[in-house]
Amino acid sequence: MSGIYVHIPFCESKCLYCAFASFAGKNSEQKRYFEKLKQEILSSNFTFKVDSIFIGGGTPSSVDKNFIAEILSAIKSKFEVSDKAEITIEANPNSLDREKLEFYKSIGINRLSIGVQSLDNTVLKKLGRLHNHAQVFDALKEAKRAGFENINCDLLLGLENEKYNFLKKEVKLLKKYVTHFSCYMLQVEENTRLEKMVLDGSVKLPSDEKTIENYAKLTKFLQKNGFFQYEISNFAKKGYKCQHNLNYWRRGNYLGFGLGAHSFMDEKRWANGLTFEDYYKGRKSLEEKLTERQIVEEVIMLGLRCEEGFDKQNLLEKGYDIEKNQNFQELKKLQILFEDGGKIKINPAYYGASNLVIEKLI
Ligand SMILES: C[S@@+](CC[C@H](N)C(=O)[O-])C[C@H]1O[C@@H](n2cnc3c(N)ncnc32)[C@H](O)[C@@H]1O
Ligand code: SF4
Repeated sequence: MSGIYVHIPFCESKCLYCAFASFAGKNSEQKRYFEKLKQEILSSNFTFKVDSIFIGGGTPSSVDKNFIAEILSAIKSKFEVSDKAEITIEANPNSLDREKLEFYKSIGINRLSIGVQSLDNTVLKKLGRLHNHAQVFDALKEAKRAGFENINCDLLLGLENEKYNFLKKEVKLLKKYVTHFSCYMLQVEENTRLEKMVLDGSVKLPSDEKTIENYAKLTKFLQKNGFFQYEISNFAKKGYKCQHNLNYWRRGNYLGFGLGAHSFMDEKRWANGLTFEDYYKGRKSLEEKLTERQIVEEVIMLGLRCEEGFDKQNLLEKGYDIEKNQNFQELKKLQILFEDGGKIKINPAYYGASNLVIEKLI
């Protein structure tokens, strides 16, 4: 499988916790940015059949919908896009309306990823979100009306005053509209306003233990409701796993276009510049050819994030015999890891501790 990621770095405002390459108040840059983006796509040195396209950000739904159409046509004129390709756009609830959704559908977008984060209006406000509880359901109803059936909602866990019963209520209210949930544990990123507020005590976040406990309970509740955990943070109804992200975790090839976007082709990784100027000048923020050691580490790390695990034979072919690893044998004995048809998988009960397990193996 091969995918294309397109980065749209514009947002209407910057959320308290966000460290992504996204900017508010830069709308005057949009015309130039989309011109460069088109040029970058059309002058790509690669050609391959595309199985998934992910238009992410930033907030792609906040920009003029015609820019999105132009980018999709540029991709389609340069690459062969499979008829069955999954084409996702990331959207914030307040920047979706009937007209935009119908337009997205008409240009071939077939999956929405909506940043809900929470349904608590007080929390949303404090996080700097521009939407409220009611707008989430307006957006979801309009999305359904426009004919979208593959819809993801992003939720954040580990927010101030979090109660499991409220998380459960959120899933109960959202589940009839969606096919997929991404549930992320809030990270306090460096140099964000959230970091300052945590340090000065104006935001009090729950302990990691409490968040992990809520996460485990929510996982069970999601599974009971037909959302199967196929990756640490991702839950899908049957037939609705995110193909684009699966390709990342399986280490398939992908090209990233736009400011800060990452590409990975044939064990080489590179990323575009992180400022408008660097991006326009074609400067890279990363360029590397992976070493054998890095490849082995990635196979293990990405495999153990997913329900499908990693292929033991594949690792052997890359020069690493995991059977010779003492920690691996111990983790197997403890039934933390297990083998299933040549694949090494993590016992789902230990997803919460997967970082520790991965550390022991690499
Ligand atoms: C790249 S963001 C863009 C999505 C969209 N602009 C939005 O905010 O809804 C994708 C997702 O990353 C998650 N995210 C962003 N910052 C995070 C943080 N500090 N910790 C955990 N998750 C975060 C949020 O759930 C968000 O929906
Ligand atoms: S969380 Fe989303 S909307 Fe908020 S600043 Fe980051 S990318 Fe923009």
